[in-house]
Amino acid sequence: MKKIAILGSGSGSNMQAIADAIAAGSLEAEIIYVGCDIEGAYIFERAEKFGLPCELIDCHGFKQKFPQEAQAALAQKLKNMGVDLICLAGFMRLVGQPLLDHFPNRILNIHPSLLPAYPGLHAWEQAITDGATESGCTVHYVDAGMDTGEIIAQAKVPVVIGDTAKSLHTRIQEEERKLYPLVVGQVLGS
Ligand code: GAR
Repeated sequence: MKKIAILGSGSGSNMQAIADAIAAGSLEAEIIYVGCDIEGAYIFERAEKFGLPCELIDCHGFKQKFPQEAQAALAQKLKNMGVDLICLAGFMRLVGQPLLDHFPNRILNIHPSLLPAYPGLHAWEQAITDGATESGCTVHYVDAGMDTGEIIAQAKVPVVIGDTAKSLHTRIQEEERKLYPLVVGQVLGS
């Protein structure tokens, strides 16, 4: 059975989608680690419901940076646990060399836009501000850049009249929850 680690910073709906797919038998894998860098984020509660303890990732007091030492410690830990694939699920820090070196082409991210459009923060807001007529989500391999890794799959959604940033993000997230488990299965099977 392939072993997945999930890193998040927020509500954990993508983590839940992967866990739901495993529970439903449509994804053959097990989640053996959930980590979050934000104390009290809802992902802790969601993980607990699946009997998955969520660990607080110590980022040494940095608000945005993911310190090299913290990444090296996490990489070693996940390596020791036998993790096959790391899934970033709303994790809001840039992953760098310590993790990338240990898990080459084995770290995925889901991003709420049709990359390469709108990388970075609040992609759904960027789409609304830009007057986009279409948006969606992208699953890609993680490299050292910001949402720049090789694209694996995308799902599109329309931007409709009257959309707010929030309503568009909600529509994108519905697609995320379908797309991410499918791509995880595809990557693990390959
Ligand atoms: C998701 O929409 C994900 O695509 C986005 O954060 C949200 C996390 O939701 N990620 C990024 O913007 C990364 N650049 P979740 O915590 O409910 O899965």
